[in-house]
Amino acid sequence: MSKNKGLFIVFEGPDRSGKTTQINLLAEALNKKRIKFLITREPGGCPLSEKIRDLLLDPKNNISPMAELLLYEAARAQHTAEKILPALKRGEVVISDRFFLATLAYQGYGRKIDLSIVRKLNSVAALGLKPDLTFLFLMPDREFEKRDRKKDGLNPDRIEREKADFRKKVNSAYRKLALTEKNIISIDATLKVEKINEFILKKLKLK
Ligand code: TMP
Repeated sequence: MSKNKGLFIVFEGPDRSGKTTQINLLAEALNKKRIKFLITREPGGCPLSEKIRDLLLDPKNNISPMAELLLYEAARAQHTAEKILPALKRGEVVISDRFFLATLAYQGYGRKIDLSIVRKLNSVAALGLKPDLTFLFLMPDREFEKRDRKKDGLNPDRIEREKADFRKKVNSAYRKLALTEKNIISIDATLKVEKINEFILKKLKLK
């Protein structure tokens, strides 16, 4: 548990791993139990950080790796101060679609920025806050490539337009991070939606 009264839960994993579907199902379960919660996302979650998100995901922008890292961290600093910490202090469950593990995967392993720099900036931007629990969605490269191809025609954002090699690197980075990072609960993203939901509810003692 963090120093706050609430509980900070993060959903992480590569694009199209099913995180958002599971967040919505968890929200339903929390509603039924009348537990107060807040759903948010990174990059974004508050007005300034949503503007930074637009900059980051706009395919028209050419952003250097270091500028990209700093923009993700700037969005995080504002989001943490303005939205996450106040909700935790009120005693709510905060569920974030991504947090700093994504920066290690995408900017660290993906863009090859020194992991110690990414870790340092993560900690500074998150104002020292760490998730109490991270559900990390994992899948083999084969499955990832299959889902990745499906995005064609969906108007992919700047990150989704990256070369297949970059996205594959990110996918395998998550599998590495599952072994090295704290408070991670790995989820096999290839399982059926209902099975994953049941697993998550059991872990959170909601079932
Ligand atoms: P989303 O599509 O899951 O909302 O996330 C937007 C994209 O931003 C997604 O491709 C992952 C990427 N991302 C990073 O590269 N670094 C980060 O720190 C975060 C939070 C997301």
